[in-house]
Amino acid sequence: MEQSALGERRQPAVFITGAGGEVGHGLISSFSDERRPDIVATDLRELDHKSREKCAATYLADVCDRDALDRILSMYQVKEMFHLAAVLSTRAEFAPEIAHQVNVNGTVNILQIAAEQGRMYGEPVKVVFPSSIAAYGFGSLAQKKEVGSVTEYEHCKPSTMYGCNKLYCEHLGRYYAHSYRQLATDSVQGEDKNRGVVDFRCVRYPGLISAETVPTGGTSDFVPEMIHAAARGEKYKCFVREDTRIPFMTMPEAIDATLQLAAAPREELTQIVYNISSFSPSAGEVAELVKQYFPKANISFEPDERRQAIVDSWPEALDCSVATNDWGFAPKYTLEQAFEEYLIPRITKQYESKA
Ligand code: SER
Repeated sequence: MEQSALGERRQPAVFITGAGGEVGHGLISSFSDERRPDIVATDLRELDHKSREKCAATYLADVCDRDALDRILSMYQVKEMFHLAAVLSTRAEFAPEIAHQVNVNGTVNILQIAAEQGRMYGEPVKVVFPSSIAAYGFGSLAQKKEVGSVTEYEHCKPSTMYGCNKLYCEHLGRYYAHSYRQLATDSVQGEDKNRGVVDFRCVRYPGLISAETVPTGGTSDFVPEMIHAAARGEKYKCFVREDTRIPFMTMPEAIDATLQLAAAPREELTQIVYNISSFSPSAGEVAELVKQYFPKANISFEPDERRQAIVDSWPEALDCSVATNDWGFAPKYTLEQAFEEYLIPRITKQYESKA
């Protein structure tokens, strides 16, 4: 255990922001199953009881509040951060400047803290950051269909504030990892003390589907909403057309992949940003499967033109070959397997126990 400036011992911990969101929930469960180091979690809202129990400490803190972050981090020895706090794509379109503050300024706070801590430790602090398919942007549906699957660095012209924020933060992460304060005096004289103080790693998530939680404020939410509504016996009006196609994966696959990237040897990573996804169904194909398992499901398609346009600007499929080559990413499920082996058993159990 390391001593802090005040002489007290600082407990080693993994730091998570936005821990109360869907990914945070999955990450905390996975960490505690694997008995990984202590978790220090923050969110704007109190975490649910189960998640709280799995953490060494939880704090109510805003990622935009640098002083609060500093106060929390001064108590721990943190060499790995999962920066999940964000305002998602639909919500961000109602308050774009607030989204920018949280998504960008919050990320700068985390990167700056990581850089300072990295310099202090004399070794890089790892920052794991989820980006999104929202970083892409097609000008038309015809172009999206013609292109099909995309690699990380093509068609990145986002049309949402959230997508712009995520794409920019990917670049900021690269900057802090490779070029931070490149002209500062401490960088140009002799040993470069700033280079490599942040080990930034980023996954671009597709839409995520969890059996345990339902997303809020996103635009890929139509798939998880459709499945959960059917399991609860509720009608669902899908806000996109039946033929709408974007990539998805299950939450456990996303968590496993994130942890796999976090654990990969640095020298094997050839990129800062990695695409990951498992399947690319149309909304209609998902509805068909939902009806197989829940024959009484009442699903109608009533596209909301503006949310549809956002989903139409996102790619149909992601080329994940670099993630596969660099750190062994492999999807676990096809859509059918995801339903059979993960979603249906877990969702059914969940709503039975709530009934
Ligand atoms: N799930 C996100 C959203 O819909 C996209 O990554 O905003």
